[in-house]
Amino acid sequence: MKWNSHQVKIYPTAQEAALQVAQRVAEVIREKQKRNQWAVLGLATGKTPVKVYEELIRLHQQEQLSFENVISFNLDEYFPMAATHPQSYHHFMQQQLFDQVNIPPEQTHIPKGDWSTDQLQEACLAYEERIKQVGGIDLQLLGIGKTGHIGFNEPGSSIDTTTRQVVLDPLTRQEAIADFGSLEQVPSQAITVGIETIAQAREIVLMAWNASKASIVQQAIQGPVSAAVPASYLQLWPQASFVLDQDTAALL
Ligand code: PGA
Repeated sequence: MKWNSHQVKIYPTAQEAALQVAQRVAEVIREKQKRNQWAVLGLATGKTPVKVYEELIRLHQQEQLSFENVISFNLDEYFPMAATHPQSYHHFMQQQLFDQVNIPPEQTHIPKGDWSTDQLQEACLAYEERIKQVGGIDLQLLGIGKTGHIGFNEPGSSIDTTTRQVVLDPLTRQEAIADFGSLEQVPSQAITVGIETIAQAREIVLMAWNASKASIVQQAIQGPVSAAVPASYLQLWPQASFVLDQDTAALL
């Protein structure tokens, strides 16, 4: 099934929603394989994509889905942050996906939380360049934060932003306390791809299946398009869709 663009898809449960997203990812990978092409995926971290990655691992193990033709670019990483830190997004991706499928490590990309301050700008530019060099992102997965962020593009992020160093919104840091143990341990900054970087993807899927996101999801889909809710930019992009479970769609 080809998903129509610019739509909101609502499934009874988070599990069903996640399976549909995983199916779409697998379909893109297989379509590209048939044509001997790279499948360039934009990947997200957080609780939301975990079920999607579980299904992709199952498809790899039980249904011969190969990741050999996949090139991936993650949205973001805390800064500063060692790749080996248990809360780093490098660690997350290894645990939740990369270690369990056959994606060649050199085909995975994540902004680095240990880029030195003087090389940071250049490294961010190089990240953008690398995406362009491989032909752009075919399918971009997104979560949404309580602030309305996509990647770590917090409220105030303008539509022309690219990969850069950002300051995390206080609410985002608050939400991360459960992972880090205390507010003091939550980094205050991050490296994130920009709104413009995301907009250039050929297909964009924003996933949300957590009732506590119902209000921000409603604002993103039905509110004004505004930097105050960065996910609302998706309304402008015909290639973007929202995949929700019933509870998260409750206020629509
Ligand atoms: P979550 O985070 O999937 O852990 O809810 C999403 C996000 O902040 O983008």
